[in-house]
Amino acid sequence: MRLLFIGDIVGKPGRKMVEKWVPLLRKKYQLEYVIANYENSAHGFGITLKIYHQLSPFIDIWTGGNHTFDKKEVLPLLEEEKLLRPLNYYDVPGKWYWEDEKLVVINAMGQYGLPCGKNPFRKLNREVEKWKEKFIFIDFHGEATSEKQMLFHLLKGRVGAIIGTHTHIGTDDLQIEEGTCYLTDVGLTGCNDGMIGFDWKKALPGYLTGTRSKLEIDDKCKSIFQGVILEWNGTQTCWAIKVKGDSHTLHETQLVRG
Ligand SMILES: [Fe+2]
Ligand SMILES: [Fe+2]
Repeated sequence: MRLLFIGDIVGKPGRKMVEKWVPLLRKKYQLEYVIANYENSAHGFGITLKIYHQLSPFIDIWTGGNHTFDKKEVLPLLEEEKLLRPLNYYDVPGKWYWEDEKLVVINAMGQYGLPCGKNPFRKLNREVEKWKEKFIFIDFHGEATSEKQMLFHLLKGRVGAIIGTHTHIGTDDLQIEEGTCYLTDVGLTGCNDGMIGFDWKKALPGYLTGTRSKLEIDDKCKSIFQGVILEWNGTQTCWAIKVKGDSHTLHETQLVRG
């Protein structure tokens, strides 16, 4: 069984890359599931109903992050089974996991620099035990690389994959240990020549003056598509590929076997 995970989809350039490459990858790898992080899909901030419906043919399960609640339109979407928000929030609508008979998708967030309360380590350490017979996929949305690696060490051998999101910068540490696939950050899908997907020139005055400039997305930027494809044998990851593409070509950049 195979799945594709796409990290933070940033704005229209990111959405276009999803529409371009997901059908091809779905066919080539016979993907059963496509999971993607929606938190920046609406011009960098949250998700709208329109975008949800536009990308629904391409994405099966949606994960979020610290930008989940940026647009109030997310509230009815969180009633949908397949659109998640991180487990760490207190008293908010929505679910932090999705499951069927063989796959569990978990959305969790690190604590460093992010607006969350509950300790994700304590909670996940307990919660994953109830899905021992299934493949558990975790989108760990975090700023700190240390937190991401710690979650890997805590849960390796007990979950199928822990793939990081949020920094928007892809890392090259894809690995499989004790049947668990790990990558610190899959990286954004969107503009690759800006500042974490945003137009750096428009952001610059805020950095030079110490004030904050509004973050904008340049729709004419150079785009990148980044994802991870996993194959599992029921409970463990057998192999994983990092896929990376631009507007014209797509490459499988790193293959690891368990
Ligand atoms: Fe993000
Ligand atoms: Fe984030």
